[in-house]
Amino acid sequence: MTEKGSFGNNKFEVKRFKGEDDRSYEQRKRIVDKFAGVKLRLLVLSGKGGVGKSFVATNLAFTLSQMDYRVGLVDVDIHGPSIPKLMGLEGVKIEIKDNQIMPVRYTDGLEVISIGFFMKGDDSVIWRGPMKAGAIRQFLGDVAWGDIDMLVVDSPPGTGDEPLSVAQLLLGARGSIVVTTPQDLSVGNVGRSVTFSRTVGMPVIGAVENMSYMTCPHCGERIELFPGRGADTLYKEMGVPVIGRLPFKPEVVALADEGKLAVRDDDEFKNAFDGIAEKVIEYQRKIEGVRKKRE
Ligand SMILES: Nc1ncnc2c1ncn2[C@@H]1O[C@H](COP(=O)(O)OP(=O)(O)O)[C@@H](O)[C@H]1O
Ligand SMILES: [Mg+2]
Repeated sequence: MTEKGSFGNNKFEVKRFKGEDDRSYEQRKRIVDKFAGVKLRLLVLSGKGGVGKSFVATNLAFTLSQMDYRVGLVDVDIHGPSIPKLMGLEGVKIEIKDNQIMPVRYTDGLEVISIGFFMKGDDSVIWRGPMKAGAIRQFLGDVAWGDIDMLVVDSPPGTGDEPLSVAQLLLGARGSIVVTTPQDLSVGNVGRSVTFSRTVGMPVIGAVENMSYMTCPHCGERIELFPGRGADTLYKEMGVPVIGRLPFKPEVVALADEGKLAVRDDDEFKNAFDGIAEKVIEYQRKIEGVRKKRE
């Protein structure tokens, strides 16, 4: 069975998945409808944990919100929802209005919600697969976003069921950004995320190489922390451009632990993220152009 929905001016169909029950299908349709008007839905992916996926999602969302976009940032990484900590929002009280979860206002242009606000301790360890998918679905369906232009999603790492259900729920997610360190292992894993993204119909906007290098505080020499072939391999082998390279800075680890964003305190990160945001906006304009031509 299929039903019509609206997507901007385009009609589209939300197809029922094989074996999908009524409740899941209804929830999914609600999510698709909810996000239909959001121009850019962007998934931040990584092949493995600890490479800075949440760090990139958070700083990028903030940077875009400083460029006159109204941005929603959502953290559905049930294995390590770290956005509350990174943004100094741990322990904030979430408001529920008319059965809807109200996102937290970080600045005028940026609203944030994390599945971490609703988890006690490490709940994810005891959740079985179907429960995780259910939790993500319910969570995405129940957040009352205001009028936003862009949604930045901190997705669970890897290419398993969870990122898959996020990608499917955000039907037509317009693009992804993959985050990796220069290390071969990480680059190899993120290569699978690239394939995953493309398989579900989500073009990869580009790769961010995080922790690319460190500058010695004493002699200023560049130190390679993770020697490897680096993110350029992704361009050579898969055509994914590198849209940003970020240094590793110990001061930033401390900032993050205090819940302060790197881009607000450090010019090197501010400049790097301005560059990444420009690439994202360029991409957004390009797909808008393609869509307008079709209409
Ligand atoms: N370029 C960087 N410089 C310094 N610290 C970083 C950098 N990137 C990430 N971190 C820190 O490393 C830790 C892991 O990053 P995080 O974004 O949580 O990883 P992931 O979401 O991929 O698991 C965090 O404490 C974060 O603040
Ligand atoms: Mg994370």
